[in-house]
Amino acid sequence: MASDDQIDLFSLGELAAPAQPLDPELIPTDAKVPIPTGTYSDMEEIKAHCNRCHRCELGATRTHAVVYRGNIKAPIMIVGEGPGENEDLQGLPFVGKSGQLLDKILESVQLTEADVLIANIVKCRPPENRTPTPAEMDACRPYLLEQIRIVDPKIILLAGASAVRGLVGDKRGITKIRGEWIEWEGRFCMPVFHPAYLLRNQSREKGSPKWLMWQDIQTVRAKLDELQQS
Ligand code: URA
Repeated sequence: MASDDQIDLFSLGELAAPAQPLDPELIPTDAKVPIPTGTYSDMEEIKAHCNRCHRCELGATRTHAVVYRGNIKAPIMIVGEGPGENEDLQGLPFVGKSGQLLDKILESVQLTEADVLIANIVKCRPPENRTPTPAEMDACRPYLLEQIRIVDPKIILLAGASAVRGLVGDKRGITKIRGEWIEWEGRFCMPVFHPAYLLRNQSREKGSPKWLMWQDIQTVRAKLDELQQS
């Protein structure tokens, strides 16, 4: 072998390294650039893209984009508002106190992580846990729409007013619209209180937020049973 053709052992690592999953140059950094339906083939692609995303300013301060936990073939999707501190650190949604309560609510009607996929309206933590702005929700919406397309859930739980506004565009307060099915894109969407709100309202009295959540989650369980029988 001529010396010019010899393989440089020090560059073997580079040759063997896997191709980057996505070229950062190709990621739309302007929220006006659409991400069309069918862009992603699976949830891991969405996750990789979100971790490089700068379609809004939240990308500048995140530790991890928080894309999902649960079963990608689940019949139920749960959509929250956006990651908090624990979620940002771990890269998983609803892993703090709200998440523990959410898991308990699900368990109360025999639902586990196998039955749900949990996601959020915005994938990156808003500073100081503020409510995401309409522009941030709009910028992030294509990712959620792609998640819904891939999971194809029969039922979507919308936890809190931001989730309702961010997905179905209804701006009414959650107290007004919780507990009533909204049909959206052929799916049954149920607005419910956000678990953080329940943590601040501990009463279990009839008519209290916790009591109402108990009614709503039973309604969801009954709908799932009905859909699975038909
Ligand atoms: N609150 C949310 O809305 N989402 C999370 O992932 C955690 C807390």
